[in-house]
Amino acid sequence: MSERANFGSKMGVILAASGSAVGLGNIWRFPCMVGENGGAAFILVYILCVMFLGVPVMVSEFLIGRRAKTNAIEAYSKLAPGTPWIWIGITGVAAAFLILSYYGVVAGWTLEYTVASAVGELSGAKDYTAFFNDFVSNPWKPVLYMAVFILLTHIVVVRGVREGIEKFSKIMMPLLLLIICVLVGCSFSLSGFEEGAAFLLRPDFSKVTNKVILDAMGQAFFSMSIGMGCLCTYASYFSKDTDLMKTAGSVATIDTLVALLGGFIIFPAVFSVPGLSADAGAGLVFITLPNVFHLIFQNVPWLGYIFSLMFYVLLMLAALTSTISLHEVSTAYIHERLKWSRKKAAWAVTAGCIFLGVFCALSFGVLSEIKLFDLTIFDLFDFVTAKLIMPLGGMFISIFTGWYLERSIVKAEVTNEGKLKIPFFKFYIFLLKFVAPVCIGLIFINELFK
Ligand code: TRP
Repeated sequence: MSERANFGSKMGVILAASGSAVGLGNIWRFPCMVGENGGAAFILVYILCVMFLGVPVMVSEFLIGRRAKTNAIEAYSKLAPGTPWIWIGITGVAAAFLILSYYGVVAGWTLEYTVASAVGELSGAKDYTAFFNDFVSNPWKPVLYMAVFILLTHIVVVRGVREGIEKFSKIMMPLLLLIICVLVGCSFSLSGFEEGAAFLLRPDFSKVTNKVILDAMGQAFFSMSIGMGCLCTYASYFSKDTDLMKTAGSVATIDTLVALLGGFIIFPAVFSVPGLSADAGAGLVFITLPNVFHLIFQNVPWLGYIFSLMFYVLLMLAALTSTISLHEVSTAYIHERLKWSRKKAAWAVTAGCIFLGVFCALSFGVLSEIKLFDLTIFDLFDFVTAKLIMPLGGMFISIFTGWYLERSIVKAEVTNEGKLKIPFFKFYIFLLKFVAPVCIGLIFINELFK
């Protein structure tokens, strides 16, 4: 047990876990959702979901991982031997592997856009819709970028917890925050800033529908990396004095701040160009934004160049810290279960993900005709993981901690064996026992029958 890897510092813990949380979910998916769901009112509901559902489930995953000190599957067989609870672990690890394959495809697009910005392809007047569509349907480019991205992830993971994940997070997360601050600073000077800020801050409660609430919950879970063994695996590397509640609070705060700041970068830019809509869905970041960058910086092209390059570097870095956490889930399992070296385990994961990723990447082009239940391969992966396994995982994790696990174990973990005072412990258990399972059950049913 003593030779098991662990994070070296509190800062390392927070940065690695927020690295997992902060990702395409914050800067790509969150703005899409905000745009589609009418702005500030969605954000308020989102924040409530983070506080009352996301944080408690995150603490549960942390305590399961740290208590068991092993990978996400064996954690359940250790804490609940011989019971079906192990299926939370099995589906979680399988889902993390599948997510990595399709998340890697979008991450590959961010790499392509970074390169395209760097060589100046993303400046000037151009049909950016065609640019995007040509790229994603190209028979080899998205495959290549996806593979390169997974290999980059591999390089960090293979170095291990302290030398790879922690060191990398300690450099990348501050860099990422710095880029965000610079970009938000720039966006203050845009003509659309006021309108963008009003869109993000002035809630119109008439827009809060059932769909808004359910989308907000789903988004909160995705953004906080809940339900797929990521948090549980990272927590198995926490030390015994890590304050789980505080860590979850910090990670949730950083994750939410980054999402909001992402909004403050994107919407002022979008509103600076008359006639563009905030409701552009998945194309917002890859089609609308290049158009916007080009138009608002028409007179100072070098500023547009820097703004766009920084933005895509930001997106890419955010994606990378998340793919690392997804990769680590399967790598840790194979390494510990099959007793393979870390290197061999990581290679197996990398190879498997690239293999599946090829199909996902091509499902926008050559393989777009292959459909199951009317979904392309990419959409199918997204559906199975983000819409089925993630909510179910979150629900069963809260039931596991709230109802199954002995209260004394939960208390011992949350209070670090009685060393910490946790004022809201009863409330936390109440959220886990009743609120989380019911609310998540609702998201699940909603997503399933949408
Ligand atoms: N949270 C990340 C994001 O916002 C994505 C992610 C990483 C994730 N690990 C996860 C999502 C586990 C669900 C489950 O982009």
